[in-house]
Amino acid sequence: MSFSNVILTGFMGSGKSSIGRVLAKELNSYFIDTDNLIENFENKTIKEIFETEGEEAFREKERYCFNWIKKNVQNTVISVGGGFPVFVPEIKQAGVVIYLKVPFEEILKRMDNKEIEKRPLFKDKQKAKELYLKRDKIYENLADFIIENKNLNATVEKIKEILNGN
Ligand code: S3P
Repeated sequence: MSFSNVILTGFMGSGKSSIGRVLAKELNSYFIDTDNLIENFENKTIKEIFETEGEEAFREKERYCFNWIKKNVQNTVISVGGGFPVFVPEIKQAGVVIYLKVPFEEILKRMDNKEIEKRPLFKDKQKAKELYLKRDKIYENLADFIIENKNLNATVEKIKEILNGN
């Protein structure tokens, strides 16, 4: 399968950036993370953007980021924030979309306090779970491929197989 970009989607804490980094190295391509791009564009952390400007402003920045990617980025592995495909469903126009699916209970086990602290929408675990249940279907519907991400190396291998058309 030919592709212009590989886009990794999934809920907060599902391993998108860790997998993206390893995958990009193995594919000899570049890796970008939309949260990092936005933080660099804005010179503020995601947490600060949520606190000072609110979620709606953050979603506008994600849209701006998408337009920038669409125009400027090719042959790159891109991990996007958990809400990105929900608010920018046109994401598919920018590459092959792979949903990294992880059960919510597993995500909870993987996230330490430092990781939770960075994510305003994960602070309230009950609300985070509701958000997870709502988004799971959206991620599934948008994805070209769905991978149950149990183990980093196995997931990277599966993505490589998909890209090779196996
Ligand atoms: C969000 C996910 C975060 C970040 C922001 C909002 C969401 O990214 O974009 O805190 O709406 O799910 P990660 O999925 O990388 O944690």
